[in-house]
Amino acid sequence: MFEHKTQPGWVAVEDFLTATVVQPDDALQQVVSTAVDAGLPPIEVTPNAGKLLNLLVRISGARRVLEIGTLAGFSSIWMAQGLPDGGRLVSCEYLTKHAEIARANVAAAGLADKVEVRVGAALDTLAALEAEGEEPFDFVFIDADKEHDADYLDWAVRLGKPGTVIVLDNAVWEGAVLDPSLDEVNAPGIISALELLGNHPRLDATVIQTVGSKGWDGFALARVQ
Ligand code: SAH
Ligand code: DHB
Ligand code: MG
Repeated sequence: MFEHKTQPGWVAVEDFLTATVVQPDDALQQVVSTAVDAGLPPIEVTPNAGKLLNLLVRISGARRVLEIGTLAGFSSIWMAQGLPDGGRLVSCEYLTKHAEIARANVAAAGLADKVEVRVGAALDTLAALEAEGEEPFDFVFIDADKEHDADYLDWAVRLGKPGTVIVLDNAVWEGAVLDPSLDEVNAPGIISALELLGNHPRLDATVIQTVGSKGWDGFALARVQ
């Protein structure tokens, strides 16, 4: 994102909460270090947000998860660890390099039988999933290019069913949702997505603001009617 003005206290508290409560396992910690070593941008969800995704998958009883934006597979693994036997997660990633690193991380976490990383522009992959007649997804995590956030929400409804849970990352973007001149590439897409969350006849949603190692941001949580 743009330059962080994060207060150090937020990061110290996040580190404390991660160590005291969240306690990511070795496989998850390895994902972050392989991503750094490979020069990937450090834009994965925080461990506390990853654990929230894991809990939401389990609380909702999701068996089929769709992710848009894989990176090194950090959020994929958090969610896949919450799936029951026979569960499946499909993750859409544009860059082959990211997808290959994510597949290796997923395999190292012992989740290769549950997780499929599909390479390509997500809009193409989503259309292919529909054409292939995939069963509806119970849970959708949107975390790719922000320009297409509203399109991804439409696809989440289309590939979902009543009761499908949707989480949209980066819903506050350091306040750029109120001042798009702060980021003219990404802010308009996020604003369109928030407006759609408020107006969509089949979506019921809220947004929670967050602070921590990834700065000031937030996530939207929605349910398909
Ligand atoms: N969900 C991940 C982070 C994803 S970062 C985690 O929390 O661990 C965003 C990812 O979306 C990047 O890997 C980027 O290459 C990918 N991406 C960007 N545009 C995309 C597109 N049009 N289709 C699919 N993936 C895209
Ligand atoms: C960026 C992307 C993300 O998905 C995120 O959570 C943080 C930052 C980025 O593109 O800068
Ligand atoms: Mg994100």
